[in-house]
Amino acid sequence: MLNIIIMLNNYFHDLATALLMTSGVVVYYLAKAAEDTNDQAVIKYFTDSYRRLTILGRGAFVWIIVAGVFRLINFQEFEWAQAVGKNMVPVLIMKHVLIFSLVGGGLYFWRKLNQKVIKLRQTYGLESDATSKEADLTKRVAPNQ
Ligand code: HEM
Repeated sequence: MLNIIIMLNNYFHDLATALLMTSGVVVYYLAKAAEDTNDQAVIKYFTDSYRRLTILGRGAFVWIIVAGVFRLINFQEFEWAQAVGKNMVPVLIMKHVLIFSLVGGGLYFWRKLNQKVIKLRQTYGLESDATSKEADLTKRVAPNQ
C-alpha cells in the first residue's frame, strides 16, 4: 500500500510540474492577446482569468514542493538504486538545476505580470471586489456624495 502511495506521490510531483508550466504558458499567451486589444471586456476577462490561473499556479507550486520533499525522503529506497545503476545521478542534479532556473524565471515573469494586471485594472476602472463593495457602502452611507 505504501509503495502505491509513494508511486502516486512521485507521479503527482511530475503532474504538478506540468500544471504549473501550463498555467504559466496560458497566462503568458492570454496576456499577450489581451494587451493587443483596447477592449474593457477583454481586459476584464483576462484579469479575472489571470487571478484564477495564479491560484492554480500557486497550488501547483505548493504541491510540487510538498510532494518533492516526500519524494526525496523515499528517494533512496525507491529511485536511488536505479539511478546509480544507470549513472543518472549527475543528470538528475543537472535536471533540477535547469528546472529551478526555469521556475525562478517563471516566478520573475509572474511578478512582473502581476504589476501589469494591477495597472490594467486601474486603467480600465476594474476595481477589486473589496474596493467595489467599499464604494457601494460609501454610496449607502453618503448617497449625495
Ligand atoms: C518547483 C520546483 C520543482 C520542480 C519543477 C520539480 C520537478 C521535478 C520533475 C519534473 C521530476 C521528474 C524527473 C524525472 O522523472 O525524470 C522531479 C524529480 C524529483 N524531484 Fe523535483 N521538482 C521541484 C522541486 C523539488 C523539491 C523541492 C524536492 C525535494 C525537496 C524535489 C525532489 C525530487 C526528487 C527526489 C526527484 C526524483 C529524482 C529526480 O528525478 O531528480 N523536487 N522533480
